Amino acid sequence: MTDQSSQSERRVKLVAALREWGDVQYLTVAFAPGNQAGIDMLTWCQDGARLFQDAVSLGADVVILDPRLPNFALEDVQRLYHYEEKPIVVIAALPPEPGDWLERMSTAGALGHVQLPLTEESTRRLVGIIHTAVQRALQERASSSYIPQLAPEAARVIASQGWQRATVVVWAAKGGVGKTTVAENIAALLGVVGNRKTALVDLNMAGGNVHIHLGLRPEKNIFSLASLYEFRKSMKAGDVQAHMAPYRGNLWVLVGVPRQHMAGASCFMGEEGEVGKRFTIALMDLLRQMFDFVIVDLGQDLNHKMHLAALRAADLVLVVVNPEMAGLLDTHEVLEALFEHVQLDKSRFRLVVNRFHPDAGISRREIVEVLRLSEIGVVPEAGTLVTASLNARRPLVLSHNSPVSDGLAQVASSIFPPLAQIWKQKGILGRGRKGLLDRVLDALGA
Ligand SMILES: Nc1ncnc2c1ncn2[C@@H]1O[C@H](COP(=O)(O)OP(=O)(O)O)[C@@H](O)[C@H]1O
Ligand SMILES: [Mg+2]
Repeated sequence: MTDQSSQSERRVKLVAALREWGDVQYLTVAFAPGNQAGIDMLTWCQDGARLFQDAVSLGADVVILDPRLPNFALEDVQRLYHYEEKPIVVIAALPPEPGDWLERMSTAGALGHVQLPLTEESTRRLVGIIHTAVQRALQERASSSYIPQLAPEAARVIASQGWQRATVVVWAAKGGVGKTTVAENIAALLGVVGNRKTALVDLNMAGGNVHIHLGLRPEKNIFSLASLYEFRKSMKAGDVQAHMAPYRGNLWVLVGVPRQHMAGASCFMGEEGEVGKRFTIALMDLLRQMFDFVIVDLGQDLNHKMHLAALRAADLVLVVVNPEMAGLLDTHEVLEALFEHVQLDKSRFRLVVNRFHPDAGISRREIVEVLRLSEIGVVPEAGTLVTASLNARRPLVLSHNSPVSDGLAQVASSIFPPLAQIWKQKGILGRGRKGLLDRVLDALGA
C-alpha cells in the first residue's frame, strides 16, 4: 500500500493565494516536499483573476486566500467549492487591519480561517484546519444532502418553466399530526434545495418550536417584531428582515413565540385580538413582497384572530391529517364550519396525508372522500427517522434520501414545479458520489 500513486493521492494539495511574500515563505517551509503534515504547496497565485484556473488545473484541494488579492471575486469561493471533479476548499487568510473579513469570507463559503501575518505557530495550526476542512467538504460532497450548483443548461431549463410566488399556510385541526414537520421541510426544499428566496414563519400562537427544531437562537422573534409594530403602528420590510434569522441557502426564519406567556401580550391580544390581527395582515403583506415563497406554520385554533388572518392571506392552505378516522372527522367538522361561517375559498385548501401506512386500515381514497378536499401529497410513516432529524436539528429532506423526503418533495414540487427536476438530479448525484467518498476517504486513510 505504499506505492507512489496512493502516496500522492493521500496528500492534500495547496495553493497560496496571498499578497505578502513573508506569509508565503512560512507555507513554503512548512509544506515543502515530503513534509510530515501531508500537505504539499503547489504554487503562489498573486492574481485573483487566475485563481480558479490555477487551482483547477493544478488539482488543488485547498486554497489559502487573502480577500485583498487583486482581481479576486468573492463568487470564486463557491465556484471552487462546487467544482465538479472535487471540492476545492477555501481557508480565509484574514487581513491584519480591522474589518468584517471573517464574516464576509464565511458567508462566501470559506471553511476555516487564519490570521495574517502568518507566524510559525499559526502555520502549525493550519495543518489541522486544512485537513478538517478538506474532509468536511468531501463528506458533504458525498452525502445525499449535497446540492450542486446547477449546470447553466439545467438552470436555463428550470428558469423557463412556469412558477408563481406563493404564500402557503400549513394547518391541522389538532396538534401532533406533523404540521411543523411539513412546514419546515417544504420550506427547506424551496429555500435550500430549490434556492428560491423563502420565509418560514412560526405563527403558532399556542407556542412556537420551529427554532428548537432548526437550532436557531430565539432572541429575535415574532414577539419582538409585533412589539415594534404595536409601538410604531407601522412596519417596513427592513424591520421584518431584521427580525428574521438566516438558515441555510436562501431560507429565512421568523421564530415564533419562544415563551408561552408572550402569546398573551398586548401586541398580539390587545383590543380583543385586533392588534394581533392587524399585525398579521401587515406582516403577511410585507413577506409576500419580500419573498418568493412564504411558508407559515399555524396553530390549530381558528378562533385566534391571528391564525384566521393568516389563513385569509394564504394562496394555498395545506391541511395536514393522519390516517386515523376520529381525527379526519374532527378535521372535516372544523373545515365545514370554516367554509360556512368565515367564507374562505375552499379551492385553496389541499390535503397532505402524513404518517400514511398501508396497514393503517384506511385508504387514501377514503381520506379524500371524508374530507372532500383533493390531495396534494402523501408522506409515509417514517418511524424514528423524523425524530432523529429533529434531534439533529436539520430538516429531514436535507439529511436523508428516503420515501418520506420524496413525499415531501412531491408536495413542494406542486408549489414550485422546477423542484421535481432539481430533486431528481440531487438523488442521482447523491447515489453516484458514494463510491467516490469511499475511495477518497480510503486514500486519506480515514
Ligand atoms: N411522517 C412522519 N413519520 C413519523 N413521525 C412523524 C412524521 N411526521 C411527524 N412525525 C412526528 O410526530 C410528532 C409531531 O410532529 P409535529 O410536526 O411537531 O406536529 P405538529 O406541528 O402538528 O404538532 C413529532 O415527534 C414528529 O417527529
Ligand atoms: Mg407544531
